[in-house]
Amino acid sequence: MPDRALTTRPVPAGQLALELPSELPALGIEPDWKGQPRLWGHSLHPMCSYLASFPAALAHAFIARYTRPGDVVLDPFSGRGTAPLQAVAEGRIGVGNDLNPLAQVLTAAKLEPSSAAEVRTRLAALRLAWNADAAAWLALADAVKATPVRSAPRVPAAGSSAGPDAGSEPVPAEVAGSFHARTLAQLLLVRSALQLDDPTDRFLAGALAGILHGKTPSYLSTIMPNTFSMAPRYVAGFVERTGYVPPERDVFDRLSAKLDRLYRQPLPTSSGIALRGDARTAGTRTRAALRARGLPDRARLVVTSPPYLRVLRYGYYNWLRTWLLGFDPATIDEALDAAHRRAPYLQFLRVVLADLRPALTDDGIAVVVIGDVETDRGKPSSEGIGLAERAWEEAALPAGYRLAGLVRDEVAANRKMTRLWGDEAGRATKTDGILVLGATEAGRRRALAAADVPVDWTWPPTRLRAI
Ligand SMILES: C[S@@+](CC[C@H](N)C(=O)[O-])C[C@H]1O[C@@H](n2cnc3c(N)ncnc32)[C@H](O)[C@@H]1O
Repeated sequence: MPDRALTTRPVPAGQLALELPSELPALGIEPDWKGQPRLWGHSLHPMCSYLASFPAALAHAFIARYTRPGDVVLDPFSGRGTAPLQAVAEGRIGVGNDLNPLAQVLTAAKLEPSSAAEVRTRLAALRLAWNADAAAWLALADAVKATPVRSAPRVPAAGSSAGPDAGSEPVPAEVAGSFHARTLAQLLLVRSALQLDDPTDRFLAGALAGILHGKTPSYLSTIMPNTFSMAPRYVAGFVERTGYVPPERDVFDRLSAKLDRLYRQPLPTSSGIALRGDARTAGTRTRAALRARGLPDRARLVVTSPPYLRVLRYGYYNWLRTWLLGFDPATIDEALDAAHRRAPYLQFLRVVLADLRPALTDDGIAVVVIGDVETDRGKPSSEGIGLAERAWEEAALPAGYRLAGLVRDEVAANRKMTRLWGDEAGRATKTDGILVLGATEAGRRRALAAADVPVDWTWPPTRLRAI
């Protein structure tokens, strides 16, 4: 099938909501991931909510079709690690990369998990530390909550291993207002103790980030939904205006219950690697990391969803989680803020794809999920319309890929964004276009040939269950 260039058509302003017919050949893959239960896949997936993550079932649809056990599966924008975790859960080697430190912690927690016994032993030690020094941590939390930030006592930094008397930083008012004093006191202790470069502590940190805020009794604060953090100023104002009294929630009990849920299924036995860095060099760094571990150094499949044009601020919308982990949200957003407009975005994607191509096997396949963004912070915009088509023409084709076809995922808009932000944001991502690319002609042929292979949706898979 010849590669087709696209004709660029101007979009009349009044027609922004209309879907344009795709000009790329459709690939005959049924989006049956949409029919699977919300929590389909390994029990580690829901460790912590993450904006714009794709379902594990979507990753499975391509991993099952396009790889065999032992193959390498790579996601250069891994977010909370969905694709590489699903890969290792299916006996593949999963590699995730992300520039956001929160994403890297979550991906690493899932790909290099400690055993349930190790994590529970560490949790027990933290509980003992609390029992030994609860009065001092409580006095600190009480003082933090009772005093305006400027004159409030300082608290130990995340990961500093310092005690309650060795404070070095203030607690933002919106953090202090979100928790009951006892819950805050326990969080201050645990936050100071956890070392993110230790796999056991990192697992606990990821699990704790996942229960920080939400509306049910599983969560430590009920002030915000679980999916994302509301504006800090709004939260501080809400506490002041309404006299919000946070419920008392025991960090150790809730964390223990969370561990029960996460360890419901046996841990994957395959290797996984979590890298932190810019996607523009992810291919090169992945090869080096695989080689250093004596593993095959090229991926048979890339499954990825690059950041959408201008829609999300991953730091700002996670400020309570970044406080817990000791990351600065503004620094995160500055680092991720690479491409606002379509032209630089496509240039960015082109560099990412060009660096990835040598990291793919000769018959390698890249699956790139691209949202059609129809509004830019509430205002209609034509920048994102037909983005998948443009991404093929201006990023993948010049980087040397061969097009197998486009899969349309029409339901994504309602399921993903509307649920989070209401109708306004629901309009921001109307459909996902999924580009399926061959690294070479052999990859393209393989992508076409395996498109209609039936996929087994039994989970956990019978074959792996027996291992
Ligand atoms: C749409 S999300 C991917 C979500 C992922 N598929 C999941 O299921 O969780 C896009 C990701 O790209 C990351 N990102 C943005 N700019 C990046 C860059 N220059 N290099 C690497 N990652 C980047 C963001 O931190 C975010 O996690």
